[in-house]
Amino acid sequence: MSTSSVESVLHENRVFHPHESFVAQANLSGMHAYHALCAEAEKDYGGFWGNQARKHIHWHKPFTATLDESNAPFYKWFEDGELNVSYNCLDRHLATRGNKTAIIFEGDDGSVIHVTYKELHSRVCRFANTLKSLGVAKGDRVVIYLPMSVEAVVAMQACARIGAIHSVVFGGFSSKSLHERIVDAGAVLVITSDGQFRGGKALPLKPAVDEAMSMGGVESVKSVVVYRRTGAECAFNPSVDKWWHDVEAGQSDQCEPELVGAEHPLFILYTSGSTGKPKGVQHSSGGYLLGAMASLHWVFDLKEDDVFWCTADVGWITGHSYVAYGPLASGCTQVIFEGVPTYPDAGRFWKMIQDHKVTIFYTAPTAIRSLIKAGGDLPKQYDLSSLRLLGSVGEPINPEAWMWYYNVVGGGRCPIADTWWQTETGSHMISPIPGVVPLKPGSCTFPLPGIMADIVDEVGHDVEKGKGGFLVIKRPFPSQVRTLWNDPERFKSAYFPPELKGYYLAGDSANRDLDGYFWIMGRIDDVLNVSGHRLGTMEIESALVGNPLVAEAAVVGRPHEIKGEAVVAFVVLKGVRPEGDAAKKIAADLRDWVGREIGPIAKPDEIRFGDNLPKTRSGKIMRRLLRSLAKGEEITQDTSTLENPSILEQLKEAIK
Ligand code: PRX
Repeated sequence: MSTSSVESVLHENRVFHPHESFVAQANLSGMHAYHALCAEAEKDYGGFWGNQARKHIHWHKPFTATLDESNAPFYKWFEDGELNVSYNCLDRHLATRGNKTAIIFEGDDGSVIHVTYKELHSRVCRFANTLKSLGVAKGDRVVIYLPMSVEAVVAMQACARIGAIHSVVFGGFSSKSLHERIVDAGAVLVITSDGQFRGGKALPLKPAVDEAMSMGGVESVKSVVVYRRTGAECAFNPSVDKWWHDVEAGQSDQCEPELVGAEHPLFILYTSGSTGKPKGVQHSSGGYLLGAMASLHWVFDLKEDDVFWCTADVGWITGHSYVAYGPLASGCTQVIFEGVPTYPDAGRFWKMIQDHKVTIFYTAPTAIRSLIKAGGDLPKQYDLSSLRLLGSVGEPINPEAWMWYYNVVGGGRCPIADTWWQTETGSHMISPIPGVVPLKPGSCTFPLPGIMADIVDEVGHDVEKGKGGFLVIKRPFPSQVRTLWNDPERFKSAYFPPELKGYYLAGDSANRDLDGYFWIMGRIDDVLNVSGHRLGTMEIESALVGNPLVAEAAVVGRPHEIKGEAVVAFVVLKGVRPEGDAAKKIAADLRDWVGREIGPIAKPDEIRFGDNLPKTRSGKIMRRLLRSLAKGEEITQDTSTLENPSILEQLKEAIK
């Protein structure tokens, strides 16, 4: 790890102060209120989080201790407290919000369904009873491979209700990725659908489960529950496959929630790391829920009559914390959308905001950039006056996209919460609190109260303001990852390297300007951020070398106008280096191969073939050179340590 190359490149001087009217009504209002909370956390850290946990969560059995640090870094929060997350999301609202809309679901075709808290409660109970009838018990793992739907939320909540641990696999992942996750989690049940509607088309989903189930090593799986969405024909193996509507028929709509300890795992979510194997990030019940709820209160300033819309898929952490759990636990009305932002045209998001009178809208910079490109004037055709707050997540938002989002979507009146966080942190860590912080486009501003984020050098010393370094969180916080499923050693080494004094290492580099604002600068490991999603370069390399034609591969990122980063693969084949049409054909085949191995999101944007890769005499691939080549830069670095400098010429040219 080196910070020498970490220099801030952004010089953004614009500052946007929150409007007085926003400040006046905000849950956290004014800098003094923020500083008071920070001071409370500073003075009595456990007491601060204990108060928050009592304020937000219904505990069936109150906790007596807050933080147990005795077995660091395997921290425990509120350990002797007992709760049920689904109870917190549903039952506790029934008396006061039973008839309130919990979910406004809009299908790809524009059809809309409203689901009240009472109805959602019944549906979750029925499905929880269904899971029990299929033998699923507390602690069992359930893999969920579903499109964006009410059913996906029902399935997650039903697991939480009976204490089963879900692992949602994004519907865009391939059968191979799905298989790897089913096996690693030791799932007893898989929940899927026949297919999904996206962009006016019915796409299959179940065949990927069938393929995964045929790959072996899945003996733990006793049933596959299939929700009928598209009505497409699909293969059915009666010994394991069961239709959702069949197994649910006759189940009671009452199901006592299973009380669990605060540390009971709520879910596992796999994310890419710098090695080939995805990491099974394990989250707790109590601390995780607290993070989601506290951040919705502070950052999204959530109020009783808000209509909240987070566009993230439930397959990602954002769709866990800010779709499946946080909004429901906070008793709000939220929008869930099945389709894509560009169908039937690039005005879809804006039309939906207008139709459903969305007040808080949370999306990713990649979506913002693609919508600017597809129709930067389109928002003006819709009435977006219901909006009062905007959010951004997944990657740094470039100032141009920020300004468009602020002016064109938000009408210059809505603050933007640029929320920095990760799968591992479970909830927002660094973000503007909208009634508090003057905004600077592109900066995620300041840590939330009780989050001890800082920037340090490679031995854990604080760096001065204005200098870059590693982003760390110095004290354990309630919503953080508890361990990596099946791999506690990797958990320790990946996040708590000994030289960093036990701080949580986020894997991002960051810089703090002279006003103390945080600016995220990118990853420090071999992880790409494509469309706001993490992809390990090693993961894509392993997929490529798994192809019988490929001898060697190296993958690097290159800045991309819309996706943030594009994937560029340098490949050495076992035979001769292909040229012309042959090269084009093999490149296309390899892209499809990676799509099948990992998922379409990982497909290289570009593949270049060489007789070899640029290596040092000791055989190490010089990735820095590859990055320059991918960007089309002239190589000005010293190449005298290269074993084979002539190779650079071959790798300069992209295949057209
Ligand atoms: O590099 C940071 C970037 O996304 C990474 C986390 O990715 P993931 O676990 O997939 O979660 C994405 C959604 C929370 C971080 O290490 N990142 C996320 N949010 C921001 C960001 N980079 C800059 N600004 C952000 N607001």
